[in-house]
Amino acid sequence: MGRFWIITIVVVVLALLVGGGVGGHHVSKQNAFCITCHAYEKVSWDHGDHFFNDCLDCHTKGLVTDKLHGVRKVYLMFTGQNNPHNDPPSRLYPEKTSDNCTDCHMTSEVEANEPEFFAQHTGMMENFDTCQACHDDSGHDPELQALRFEAPRFTQEE
Ligand code: HEC
Ligand code: HEC
Ligand code: HEC
Ligand code: HEC
Repeated sequence: MGRFWIITIVVVVLALLVGGGVGGHHVSKQNAFCITCHAYEKVSWDHGDHFFNDCLDCHTKGLVTDKLHGVRKVYLMFTGQNNPHNDPPSRLYPEKTSDNCTDCHMTSEVEANEPEFFAQHTGMMENFDTCQACHDDSGHDPELQALRFEAPRFTQEE
C-alpha cells in the first residue's frame, strides 16, 4: 500500500474523530482527544477561568462544520503544513466562539437573575464584535498558551 493511501486512511479515521462527538461520547475522553494535538491549550485551559468547561463548549461551530474543519486540520497536520504544538492556526473563528459564550452567559435566566449585568453587557455588545474583545483571557491563560511557540520543534523526516 502506498504512502498516499496510508495517509488517506489515517486522515479519514482521525477526521471522523476530530471536531466532536456524535451522541453518547464521554466528554472527558473528548477533551483528552483534543489535547493530543493541543497540549499547550490544555495547560492554559487548566489555569484559566473555565477549567470546568469542555473544549467544545467554547469551540464548537456546529457538528457539521466541526467535522469539515476536522478533516482540514488532520490534512494540514499529516501533510506537514501545520504542527499544532508550535504553529498558530491559520484561521480562527472568534465570532463562533463568542456565540458560545453568549449561549451560556446571556440567557433569559441570567437576564432575570442579573438584570444589571445583562443590560450592561447587551449595551456593550453593540460596540464590540466578540466577548473576547474585553475578556481575552477567558478560556486560556495567555502566558501559558504562548509557551507553545517556544516549544522544541519536531521536524518531519522525509
Ligand atoms: C489531529 C490533531 C488535532 C486534533 C485531535 C484536534 N485538533 Fe484542533 N487543530 C489542529 C490543527 C492542525 C489546527 C490548525 C488548523 C489551521 O491552521 O487552520 C487546529 C486548530 C484548532 C483551533 C483554532 C482554529 C479552529 O479551527 O477553530 C481550535 C479552536 C481547535 N483546533 C480546537 C480543537 C478541539 C476543541 C479539539 C477536540 C474536539 C481539537 N482541536 C482536536 C489539530 C488538531
Ligand atoms: C471558556 C471558553 C474556552 C474553553 C473551555 C477552551 N477554549 Fe480554546 N480558546 C478560547 C478563546 C476565547 C480562544 C481565542 C481565540 C478565539 O477567540 O477564537 C481560544 C483559542 C484556542 C486555540 C487557538 C490558539 C491560538 O493560537 O489562538 C486552540 C487550539 C484552542 N483554543 C484549543 C482548546 C482546547 C484543546 C480546549 C480544551 C482543553 C479549549 N481550547 C478550551 C476559549 C476557550
Ligand atoms: C458552557 C458554559 C460556558 C461557556 C461556553 C463560557 N462560560 Fe464563562 N463561565 C461559565 C461559568 C459556569 C462561570 C462561573 C460562574 C459565573 O461567573 O457565571 C463562568 C465565568 C466567567 C467569567 C467570570 C470569571 C471570573 O472568575 O471572574 C467570565 C468573564 C466569563 N465566564 C466569560 C466567558 C467568555 C468570554 C466565554 C467565551 C469565550 C465564556 N465565558 C464561555 C460558563 C461558561
Ligand atoms: C466592552 C468590554 C466588554 C465586553 C465586550 C464584554 N464584557 Fe463581560 N465584563 C466586562 C467588564 C468591565 C466586567 C466587570 C469586571 C470583571 O469582572 O472583569 C465584565 C464582567 C463579565 C462577567 C462576570 C460577571 C460577574 O458577575 O462576575 C461575565 C460572566 C462576562 N463579563 C461575560 C461576558 C460575555 C459572555 C461577553 C460577550 C457576550 C462579554 N462579557 C463581553 C467587559 C466586557
